[in-house]
Amino acid sequence: MGYNKDKCAYTRRYKVLQFKETLANAIRDAIEQTAPGTAPDTTELREMLEYPPDKTMGDLAFPCFKLSRALRKAPPAIAASLSETLGEVPYLKEVKTAGGYLNFVIDDTYFTDKVLKQVLAEGDDYGKSHDGDGKTFVIDYSSPNVAKPFHIGHLGTTVIGHSLKKLHEYTGWKTVGINHLGDWGTQFGKLIVAYKLWGDKTQIEEGGIDKLVELYVRINNVIKGDEEKGIPARDDLAQQSRDEFHKMEIGDEENIALWKWFVEISLREYERTYKQLGITFDSYAGESFYTDKMPAQVQRLRDRDLLKIDDGASIVDLSEYKMPPCLILKRDGSTLYPTRDIAAAVYRKETYQFDKCMYVTSNQQILHFQQWFKVLELMGYEWYGELVHIPYGTVSIGGAKLATRTGNVILLKDLFAMAIDKVRAIMEEKNPDLENKEEVAEAVGVGAIVFYYLTNSRIKDNDFSLDDALSFEGNTGPYAQYTYARCCSIIEKAGGLPPAGASKGYAPVEAESSLIRILSLFGEKVKDAIRDSEPMVITRFILDVCGAFNRFYHDCHIVTAESPEARAFRVELTEATKTVLGNAFGLICLKKTPKI
Ligand code: ARG
Repeated sequence: MGYNKDKCAYTRRYKVLQFKETLANAIRDAIEQTAPGTAPDTTELREMLEYPPDKTMGDLAFPCFKLSRALRKAPPAIAASLSETLGEVPYLKEVKTAGGYLNFVIDDTYFTDKVLKQVLAEGDDYGKSHDGDGKTFVIDYSSPNVAKPFHIGHLGTTVIGHSLKKLHEYTGWKTVGINHLGDWGTQFGKLIVAYKLWGDKTQIEEGGIDKLVELYVRINNVIKGDEEKGIPARDDLAQQSRDEFHKMEIGDEENIALWKWFVEISLREYERTYKQLGITFDSYAGESFYTDKMPAQVQRLRDRDLLKIDDGASIVDLSEYKMPPCLILKRDGSTLYPTRDIAAAVYRKETYQFDKCMYVTSNQQILHFQQWFKVLELMGYEWYGELVHIPYGTVSIGGAKLATRTGNVILLKDLFAMAIDKVRAIMEEKNPDLENKEEVAEAVGVGAIVFYYLTNSRIKDNDFSLDDALSFEGNTGPYAQYTYARCCSIIEKAGGLPPAGASKGYAPVEAESSLIRILSLFGEKVKDAIRDSEPMVITRFILDVCGAFNRFYHDCHIVTAESPEARAFRVELTEATKTVLGNAFGLICLKKTPKI
């Protein structure tokens, strides 16, 4: 990166005082003094601490409302008495009461002497925790359907899923990322019929997945017919497709070879997209992988008398739970989507002994997951409660809903390509001499899409505007990456980090103290994002950091600071910002860009 980073000076690990923890302990003691035996435990008290909405109120607030019953006093009176009995808390500068709240101001030296040093010392590890130590987290995400388009509807599962995986990893969980490829099912019967009718081997080898999708769309249209144009539906081709799939199920060599080839071609392309996002999977065990694992589960359902025959199909009746039945076997005995999910869950539990297994899909599948989670419970698998479905809203572009079956969709790779082209054009203008232009254009273009998507709550429907996503001015990925690059260039200009101790005694100005206060929240934000399964917490945090950093950059001279201590402190603060931004980027598929 061109500057010599004197990390050795910071290798001593600072044992940072966990301020909230110490404060919670002190509050506990104070309550005990007032009314012995009534204090909640420290963890509960720590969790009751809030961040006041307005900075002038202080850094932390403790609401006394909940204590009112046990202490038989009004909250303002509790606040007043606690403020008097509260013992000595290191780095606590001031305690104020405001109605039923106790407000606390933390001394700046806590942030300059502890937090800042901790960020510099821990570097890539800053923000990590051990909450998940010894536990295993399995996550099923992305999971496109082979030979159907990998379209923008999959953006959600891909980037939310990856982010949840990274977040868990960051807090100590052992993680297993599974791409549950939709590589089995009647669509392959259709594709085989279409290929035999109209397919061309070399064309497909060259054209890849697009050619497969073309065939798939064509056969669907032909089967459907067109009433308005007087073109009849082709039930014969629908039947042929079922027959071809059935042949696949009984291991017909020709069909299996074709199927393998279709999967391979599709995978090749998915991997290109995953690479652009920096995503890898630990397993690509798709739906086909569970073929030989289903009979045992069907048998268990039978043994427990859970299967009912309904019009020839085997179902689990869920009316008692106010849900439609879960379909297990079709009339011809072939398995269904829920059957494969049940077998997959049992396999994963046996193979990975997970403590939590998550599935990220669009909200259209909420019922599907509720149904088969219930079936698993009825089957007597006691760990059913460890399964979690994470749904997300639909995506549209410029207000237009996206259909899948018709081929009228925006492919993820096209969306990325459009973004990359636009960024390349902007860069040609702004910074024509930049090295690795192509690499940067890809990181910024793809990052813009991901960041834009992840600034919204996952459950909300998302309407895409490419221009908004790519803007360098708004609350966007390019803005965040640009801020990161700005940090890098300042450190380079400064000739690297100052020696340890060079900033000693410096008292930060407002913009500086609010920036470190924000940086200090990173670890908690990671936990909040996990608690709510919500990567948006991280994107919004990144924007807060960028906002605070740019204010600091505007208010303070860094390299040309007024004193050597100020300069040293500001370079350290810039380095800490860079570290926190870089670590946070890693949690949401955003690449670090030292230069833009
Ligand atoms: N392939 C499915 C789809 O695109 C998503 C699979 C989700 N994972 C699962 N285990 N059901 O709709």
